[in-house]
Amino acid sequence: MKLTRSVINHSIDRALRVLDNFGIKLPPYAYWTPDQWQQAGEECDEIRACMLGWDVTDFGSNDFEHIGRTLFTLRNGVNGHEAYGKAYAEKIILDPEGQRAPAHFHQSKQEDLINRFGGNLLVEMYKADDDGQRSNEKFNVQIDGQTQTVKPGELIRLAPGQSLCICPRTIHQFWGEHGTGYQVDGIGYTVSGEVSSVCDDHNDNFFLDDMCRFPQIVEDEEPRYVLCHEYPKVAALSAS
Ligand SMILES: [Fe+2]
Repeated sequence: MKLTRSVINHSIDRALRVLDNFGIKLPPYAYWTPDQWQQAGEECDEIRACMLGWDVTDFGSNDFEHIGRTLFTLRNGVNGHEAYGKAYAEKIILDPEGQRAPAHFHQSKQEDLINRFGGNLLVEMYKADDDGQRSNEKFNVQIDGQTQTVKPGELIRLAPGQSLCICPRTIHQFWGEHGTGYQVDGIGYTVSGEVSSVCDDHNDNFFLDDMCRFPQIVEDEEPRYVLCHEYPKVAALSAS
């Protein structure tokens, strides 16, 4: 099924509940309605330019339960933009059992993946070859500051509190280990954090399959939130 507005609304409601259960608080604009975003002036330019806030996507999979993400970007910069010159980014990511992002790598972004709360995270990684495909090379990774050699595709398990550095051109995919997450409505949740260099989601995601970072949304009910790639649409509405 295509990504619908009702799935987005529900995913954010659920994310707020899960984060609250883990004692994680988000900034006030995490709760803003589309009407409030329409009232927001230039004091919110950094939020819009750096694409802070909610991000719910199925990557065009039409299978959100299995290939999808609900996350919140807390801070970010824009490469080459003086006014938004932060060199770092931070995200908080929901990892419900059974759901993962598609395998991908970044040409520029280096990210630390941190298991913040809940169950275990499983991470699968490969070095990208010159064609951007999975290579057969072994390689070193830093797990909690300690060097470990991993085989291509070897699963790395991160317990809560552990973290792993994912260097550019490393194909990666991670998910909550089944049966280990914190139960909300019968689904086990893990929450991961990402601390990284600047995140440019329009240009720096290289998927191995035919995927799309911000797919079209089927409007089956009124939006209750505005996603990080929808700010220009809301700005156009308030200008009209
Ligand atoms: Fe990534």
